[in-house]
This record gives sequence, structure tokens and C-alpha cells, in this order.
Amino acid sequence: MQPADFTVPEPPVSPLRWSGSWRDGHLRLLDQTRLPRHETWLEHRTAAGVIDDIQRLAVRGAPAIGIAGAYALVLAARAVLEAFPAMSRPEFLEQLAEVAQPIADARPTAVNLPAAVARHLELANASPDAPEQIVAGLLEAAQALDAYEKDACEAMGRHGAAWLFGRTRFLTHCNAGSLVTSGIGTALAPFYVLHASGQAIHVTADESRPLLQGLRLTAYELAKAGVPYAVQADSAAAGLLRSGKIDAVVTGADRICANGDVVNKVGTYGVALAARSNGVPYVVAAPLSTLDANTATGDDVAIEDRPADARAYLAPETAPADLVAHAPAFDVTPAALVSAFVSEAGVIEQPDRRLLAPWLARAEALQTRTDPGR
Ligand code: MRU
Repeated sequence: MQPADFTVPEPPVSPLRWSGSWRDGHLRLLDQTRLPRHETWLEHRTAAGVIDDIQRLAVRGAPAIGIAGAYALVLAARAVLEAFPAMSRPEFLEQLAEVAQPIADARPTAVNLPAAVARHLELANASPDAPEQIVAGLLEAAQALDAYEKDACEAMGRHGAAWLFGRTRFLTHCNAGSLVTSGIGTALAPFYVLHASGQAIHVTADESRPLLQGLRLTAYELAKAGVPYAVQADSAAAGLLRSGKIDAVVTGADRICANGDVVNKVGTYGVALAARSNGVPYVVAAPLSTLDANTATGDDVAIEDRPADARAYLAPETAPADLVAHAPAFDVTPAALVSAFVSEAGVIEQPDRRLLAPWLARAEALQTRTDPGR
């Protein structure tokens, strides 16, 4: 089957929505810390609230935090304008750069967030307009990014489904579905497309300790979409892969480096090793906005650590009071373990620096274009 032959469903859930104009609008975020039990919407009229929600993972996943960061920049720019209505354009741009920094720094590992903020700041700097029009332009740029990521999901779903077609039993790690972006997801997109196209599939989701994105979020959205699934302890992944009951592993990525190394939720590397060792293909589905031409290898990425509340993070009830924790949020899977990359641009098998070069060039062009339409 060709990508165009598949049916693309609506996302089972959409985690972020902007309402209104740049003057009076606000950002609504589905609080993912409360899922699956409670579907609580948070409303933000200030950037500080969005930054806090990015940091506490109420909004999470690489594309979603890029989009949320772009909307946060609109709120921050509006606040500057409201505080100092008589500001000159250069003064406004200076203030804007200052308020943008904490947004870009809210989480360190996924490239989408700092890349979106940097690009939208560049747009503002390149604009000859007065501050009011610059803020309006920032909203236009955020909405263009939102729409771009939605379309990218559909394309990843179609390309991934075409590549995976004929395989029916899948394993995924963490959550890379519609909760991490503005469309049907990255890693889960091909599953939704196969399912909507009438293929009988089954997805096993690793629980994804310690924050349980697989148990709480992947299970929640697969159930909503009606895709048959099971959740397992992370430690069951190697055994399941050895059993011959999985046809492909598919995950998302928080950052893909110039050499193809994949930074993703902690535990992904172990799953990729077990997949390779048992002859099961490992596929990474991520939009071009997750590619980072400026980071040579996975060794150059700052891996987010969550040591502040390590005891609660690792084992709330049972840990000794003086627990010393090792608490990385992500790990690096070497490019050599990846069987195929799926993006909106298509599929690359056995990726290496040379094969990835055209995608990296496209990613750089997207991240530095000076008009908001991507
Ligand atoms: O810490 P999170 O929940 O934001 O991490 C997200 C992941 O690691 C996802 O698994 C993912 O693949 C990247 S987002 C598409």
C-alpha cells in the first residue's frame, strides 16, 4: 500500500488550544499530570503559567512543548506591550529577548522548544513593524507551527503505516501520541492510521517508569481510539521481544542529532538493544522539527535530570527517607540501532549522516525561515 491509500482518523485527544486574538486570547492546556482520571483544562494568560506547566509536565512531548513555547512567547510579548505601551521598537525587541529566555530554557532536552522560541524571536527581529504588529505576527507564527505539526502527524501516520504494513504486533515506549503534538501523534500516528484503515493491530505499551507516561497516557489515548493494547512493566520488554511476539518497535524522539543518534524517554536504549538482539526492527517517528543539525551526536545533548524531588519521583511510598537517586529523564540510542526514521518527509532506512543530510537541511530551513508560513 502507498501512503495515500490509508485513512487518517481525527486525533483521539488534542492537548492544547489557543482561543481569541493576540490582544485578548489565551492558551488552554489539558493537564496531563491528572490524566487519565481527570480531564482538567488549564487556562493561561501569562507566559509564567505556561512555563510552569512545561516544567511540571502538564504539557509534554517534544512538538507540544515547542508549540506551547511559541504561544507562551505571544503571551510574554503582550505583557511587555501592556506594561510599556510607549516603548520604541528596539526597546520592545530587547525586552522580548529577555522574556523569551525562560521560555526557551523551561526544559533542556527536546530541541523543539528552544528552536521554536529562537525562530520566532528571529521573525520578530526581522519584522520592520511596530510592536503591536510584531505581537500579532508572533501569534500568526505560533498558529502556523501548530498547523504544521498537525499536518506532519498525518504525513508520519501515512508514511509509517505504509512502511509497517503487514506487521500487526507493536511495542512502544513512553507516550508519543496525540498528547505530544497538535495532530494524531508521532510514534502512535502509524498505529492510528493502520487501525482506521481496517488493519487488525495490537500495541504493547511499556509503562515508562518513573512517571508512567505509557501506563497513564498511551493507554488512555489508545483506549479512546479503540486500538487494542496491553501495558507491561518496562522490565518485560526484553523478554517480549525475545518471544517473537512483536513485529516492530516504534517510538518517538525528543531530539535527533546530526549523526542520527536518538534522544528519547529513559529506557528507550534498552528496548532498542533488545530489539536489535532479537531481529525486530526499531522505528523512530518524529517530525523534522525534532531534528537538530547543530548537535553532532547524542553525547552533546543535556539530558534532563529530575533530582530535586528524586524520592517522590522514583518510589513515593516505599523509598527510604534518605534515598539517593539516579533520575535521568531521557537516554541516547545510537543511530546504528535504528532500522528506520519516519518523518513528514518520508522514511529513511538504516540512517546515517549522509542519508539524513537532506532532512537536516530541511529541518534547518524550517527552523530559520523568516516568514511565518512554514
Ligand atoms: O518527558 P516527556 O514525557 O516530555 O518525554 C516525552 C518522550 O520522551 C516521548 O516518548 C517522546 O517520544 C518524545 S515526544 C514525541
